[in-house]
Amino acid sequence: MEDGRAILSNVVHSQIDIHRVYGGVVPEIACRAHIETIHPVVEKALADAGLALNDVDAIAVTCAPGLVGALLVGVSMAKSLALVTGKPILGVDHIHGHMYATKLAFPDLAYPCVSLVVSGGHTSLYHSTSEIDHQPLGGTTDDAAGEAFDKVAKILQLGFPGGPIIDALAKGRDPKKVVFKRTVPESLDFSFSGIKTAVLYRARGQDAKAPLTLSADERADIAAGFQEAVVDVLVEQTLKACLKTRTWRLAVGGGVACNTRLREKMTARAAKEGATCYFPPPKFCTDNAAMIAGIGYHLFKAGRVSDLTLDAVPTKSHRP
Ligand code: KG4
Ligand code: ZN
Repeated sequence: MEDGRAILSNVVHSQIDIHRVYGGVVPEIACRAHIETIHPVVEKALADAGLALNDVDAIAVTCAPGLVGALLVGVSMAKSLALVTGKPILGVDHIHGHMYATKLAFPDLAYPCVSLVVSGGHTSLYHSTSEIDHQPLGGTTDDAAGEAFDKVAKILQLGFPGGPIIDALAKGRDPKKVVFKRTVPESLDFSFSGIKTAVLYRARGQDAKAPLTLSADERADIAAGFQEAVVDVLVEQTLKACLKTRTWRLAVGGGVACNTRLREKMTARAAKEGATCYFPPPKFCTDNAAMIAGIGYHLFKAGRVSDLTLDAVPTKSHRP
């Protein structure tokens, strides 16, 4: 990445095919796959950019939050590269990266803005005052939105990852055919475990043990009703955050930001309330390298550099 804007290379090694057979990410397998692929990925990133390792000014790496095994592989690699080259190392919070994806797509996006990150592991609202300063407003108290999509797809035996499958299945369906209760906390938090359980009972009976006998049509209607409920809650809470902070710019990121219905409903509702809503293109919504390097550039410029004591932190956010 050059100057936080120009993407010289963006190599993504997806593990979706490895985990599909298990219906979800298996941490141990994810960690091993990271070890196997990190060298070829770094080599390809340099080759695509036409650079040698010594040409780079600094090395950015995701250090929090996430699966500790996967984080450790990246952090160890980055520290080794920093040690042998003498280049500075920049520890990046993965969630900040997701928020930066909007900036990559819309360089003119100004601050402050309200940021919504909806991914497989996170559903969080922030008041963002710069690329690298984000004050938390609210987050999920149980499942993340993407996690709910994945678990519901598993319950309905639709495949993995659930988000894109449910998105496609719900297209052209009447989302009012099967209606699920929306949980909208008074605060700016989210809760999606109730709706996941409601889908489970609907599909497998009140004891959740009955065999799945629903037709493909019925499953698609449930998927559409579930998606509509999740989208409605995300839209409601996000616009509430805009109102509370009197901020009328809104950036959405993370894998679930690919969702067609979320993009439609959030954009329409924001326009109605007089807010401008920014969604990155799908390839920047899901995990990618450019968003991490972009944050790295801004941390470097601000002098918020890490050192070789940098550690992988699975649960907490990283604030250099
Ligand atoms: O941001 P991401 O690539 O990885 C994490 O940091 O978690 O997000 C992955 C999540 C998965 O749960 C996946 O089901 C969801 O994003 N996702 C979607 C869509 N595309 C991906 N959810 C809803 N609709 C989509 N079109
Ligand atoms: Zn992510």
